[in-house]
Amino acid sequence: MPTLNGLDAAAIQRAAQCLAAGELVGIPTETVYGLAARADDDRAVARIYAAKGRPSQHPLIVHVLDAQAAQVFVEPPSPTALRLMAAFWPGPVSLVLRRRPGVATAAAGGLPTVALRCPSHPVAQALLRRCQALGVPGLAAPSANRFGKVSPTRAEHVRDEMGADLLVLNGGACEAGIESAIIDCTDEVPRLLRPGHVPRAALEAALGMALQQPVAASPRVSGSLDSHYAPSARVCLCPETQLPARVAELQARFGADAVALWSRHSGLEPQRLVRHVAVMPDNASDAAHQLFDTLRRWDSLGVKAICVETPPEDPAWEGVLDRLRRAAAPR
Ligand code: TXA
Ligand code: MG
Repeated sequence: MPTLNGLDAAAIQRAAQCLAAGELVGIPTETVYGLAARADDDRAVARIYAAKGRPSQHPLIVHVLDAQAAQVFVEPPSPTALRLMAAFWPGPVSLVLRRRPGVATAAAGGLPTVALRCPSHPVAQALLRRCQALGVPGLAAPSANRFGKVSPTRAEHVRDEMGADLLVLNGGACEAGIESAIIDCTDEVPRLLRPGHVPRAALEAALGMALQQPVAASPRVSGSLDSHYAPSARVCLCPETQLPARVAELQARFGADAVALWSRHSGLEPQRLVRHVAVMPDNASDAAHQLFDTLRRWDSLGVKAICVETPPEDPAWEGVLDRLRRAAAPR
């Protein structure tokens, strides 16, 4: 199956027809690329779990065209959820809501709740619109990577992960570069299950209240597993002052040319000593945009260890820091 230009109406039509027939399609969103199947067809959704190698009781995010389309899947949302939809849809914010019994059972991993998101990427929007016209109410789509691996932010990454049999819509490099924030709205108090591109402060400003911690980390929430979003190379998070010693240690262990360095400071001593160097942007959004692409590039070059300068303790970096900590967690 080819990679098609997502800006082409005929490509959108073909992808929508494949999805309506129960097949999988790789789709761009503003966060990362998704591996999509029609959410109302449990057999189509089962193909996602098989292709990703993901346990089938792990719930997926269902993508809808707008708040109205969400009604097919969920009970009437709380005022809190409606406020978040009004402020952030379309956009990179997913909401966990009470599921209507009997719909999207496989996508929800059998839970009584389901995560919904309305993506803003123009190709995703055009595709959801075409799908709706063909009677497909929403698309279940996890990130289009093998289970536990780094999410894809370019159409080529999806090809590399999923192979040549998958139809992929190319929508360019994803703007956000890390996955959506996920907010559990099933309780009286909203809880941030996964930090994302939209900073906590912006979510709380729209809500007019503080976000609470998740009740208990559940292993069914795969993005919450300690070791997740991991490249093949080992990732070491390290404060700036300790970079020289850490880089030297990694080079002694893996070889001088097998170590990469991603640091916010330029002109550092270790930068002259390692072959693969990139400067981490000062701005958290720009860093998020580059994060997975950078990790993947170094993996493809055979890098064995990636030393990353710990980002600032600023709340704007919460999403990036979360992904880096998981990438660096022991496996
Ligand atoms: O940005 C994104 O959200 C991307 C793009 C493709 O839209 N999708 C994505 O999907 O990151 P995935 O499957 O890699 O992550 C979905 C996560 C699950 O691992 C779980 O943490 C959470 O969403 N989730 C889904 N349904 C849930 C539910 N009913 N309750 C709690 N968490 C849920
Ligand atoms: Mg994922």
